[in-house]
Amino acid sequence: MKDFAGKIAVITGGGTGMGRELARQLVAEGCNVAMCDVSAEAMAETKRQCEVERLPQGLRVTTHVADVSIEDQLKRFRDELIEQQATERIHLLFNNAGIGGGGSLFTNSRERWERTFNICWGGVYLGVRTFLPLLLKADEGHIVNTSSVNGFWASVGLGVSHTAYSAAKFAVKGFTEALITDLRLNAPHIKCSVVMPGHIGTSIVSNTRKVQSASDQLNPNEIMQTRQRLNGMGIDTSALSDDQIQQIALERAQKFHDDAPTTAAQAAKIILDGIKADRWRILVGDDALKLDERVRQSPEKAYTAEFYQSFVEEVGWRLG
Ligand SMILES: NC(=O)c1ccc[n+]([C@@H]2O[C@H](COP(=O)([O-])OP(=O)(O)OC[C@H]3O[C@@H](n4cnc5c(N)ncnc54)[C@H](O)[C@@H]3O)[C@@H](O)[C@H]2O)c1
Repeated sequence: MKDFAGKIAVITGGGTGMGRELARQLVAEGCNVAMCDVSAEAMAETKRQCEVERLPQGLRVTTHVADVSIEDQLKRFRDELIEQQATERIHLLFNNAGIGGGGSLFTNSRERWERTFNICWGGVYLGVRTFLPLLLKADEGHIVNTSSVNGFWASVGLGVSHTAYSAAKFAVKGFTEALITDLRLNAPHIKCSVVMPGHIGTSIVSNTRKVQSASDQLNPNEIMQTRQRLNGMGIDTSALSDDQIQQIALERAQKFHDDAPTTAAQAAKIILDGIKADRWRILVGDDALKLDERVRQSPEKAYTAEFYQSFVEEVGWRLG
C-alpha cells in the first residue's frame, strides 16, 4: 500500500502510546480512523489530538470502547464502525493493543497470566477474525500485528519472569508469518506485517497496572515481585519499606516512558514507512535491530547473564 489517503484504518489500543501516534499520523495523511480501547477518556484525547488541525471534509475519526480479548465487544466495535464510518470495508487493521504483566507461573495468579495472554495474543487473533470480512471487501488491505522483540527473545532481563507476554508475542509473530502464505493463496490483495518494537517510550507500564489491577497502588504480591526484580538487578531491598518499593515502581513507570531510545511518534513513523515499503517484518528501534542480530548470532547464549549484560551495555537499555 503506497499511500493512506482516503483509506479506512482500524486501530486497537488507540488510547495512548503507539496506537495514538498511528492514529495521528494516519489522519494527517488523510486516512479515516476507527479506534478501540478500554479507556474512553484516553481515546477522547487521541481524537482531540487528531482533530487539532481541522479535519479535511468528510474525514472520520471514531472511537469505540471495546476489550480486544472479548469477541462480542470486537463484534460490537465492527458493527459501530460500519454504521459510523458508513462503510462495509476497511483497508488497514492495526492489532496494536497490549499489556505486560502476569509473567510468572509461580508468583502470579492464573487469572493475571491469562489476562495478559488473552489480550496480547487473543486480541490479535480475534481482531483478524472479526475484521477479515471487511478487509476482503476492499481493493487492497494490510494487516499489521504488533508483536515485540519478545516475539523472538523471551526475556526482559535477569531476575524477571516474563512467560505470558513472551508466549503471546511469539504467537503473534508465528501467526503473522504463516498468514503471509495463507493470504497469498486465498486473498492476495491483502498483505500483512509483524511489528517488533524494542523499548518505546509509552505508558505501557502504568496502563498494565490499570488493566490488571484497576489501581495505581501495588498489592502485596506485586511488592514482593518488585523486590525480586530489584534483587535480581543486584539491589538489596531488605532495608526498604513497602512504601519505598511502591515509590520505586511509580518512578520506574515514568522512567520507562522518559528514558526510551525511541518515542511512540518515531515508532509509528517506522511502522507506517514499513507498510509503504511492503515489508512484512518491521523492527522498531536500533535496540530491536541489534537484538535481532545478536539472537540470530548466538541463540544458545540468549538467556545468559553475559548475553544480557553485553547487550544492555551496547544499547544503553535502562529497563529493570
Ligand atoms: N512500549 C514498548 O516498549 C513496547 C515494546 C514492544 C512491543 N510493544 C507493544 O506495542 C503495543 C502498544 O503498546 P504501547 O507501548 O503503545 O502501550 P500503551 O499502554 O501506551 O498503549 C496500549 C493501549 O492499549 C489499550 N489496551 C490495553 N488493554 C486493552 C484491551 N484489552 N482492549 C483494548 N485496548 C486495550 C491501553 O488502554 C492503551 O491505550 C502493545 O501490543 C505492546 O505490547 C510495546
